[in-house]
Amino acid sequence: MKLFFVSSNSHKFQEIQLILREYHIPISFYQTELPEIQSESIEKIALFSAKTAFSEINQPLFTEDTGLFVEALNGFPGPYSSYVFKTIGNRGVLHLLDGESNRTAVFKTAIALIISNTESMTFLGETKGKIALSERGTKGWGYDPIFIPLEGDGRTYGEMKIEEKNQLSHRRKALQLLSKFLSNQYPHITQGGSV
Ligand code: IMP
Repeated sequence: MKLFFVSSNSHKFQEIQLILREYHIPISFYQTELPEIQSESIEKIALFSAKTAFSEINQPLFTEDTGLFVEALNGFPGPYSSYVFKTIGNRGVLHLLDGESNRTAVFKTAIALIISNTESMTFLGETKGKIALSERGTKGWGYDPIFIPLEGDGRTYGEMKIEEKNQLSHRRKALQLLSKFLSNQYPHITQGGSV
């Protein structure tokens, strides 16, 4: 059985493909722009996109929605992360935190999996961290240059190689749950590997 990852974002695909390879789960990339509903819940946003994609493709697939939740901003931008990145970007977020000593933030990824018309699931992964005082690093994308994961060595995601980011990322944690579910319930999707 073939599993599709549906998204417009090739950075996400690159990360996801590398991580799922470790779990022996091959995926195909279906690159398309999906509608995003306005919701406070990234799970609901991912599920809506997945349902829309399923009505088009009619094959097992997953989508994901990610948000950066900043404590001092009461969780903003959270589900609005995409719009905020497009409008004010990393500099705008840093500006909102000017003079703020609480830099705590969390990156969350919700994956929505649809196997059939009657079976859908969501998986949530999160990585806690801090918002840097300035943009650092040129390796990542999106908010990577301003996010310092707590489990790391003080570098931002933007200062890490993709393999390093993949070790501790919010996306890996959601994919770990997805992999566990698939290897238990749909072992024919995995290629004989254990999770
Ligand atoms: P969405 O999941 O595409 O809606 O992403 C929301 C926003 O967060 C977009 O602006 C992305 O660029 C950004 N984003 C999503 N995942 C990551 C990541 O792993 N690192 C940095 N930025 C991300």
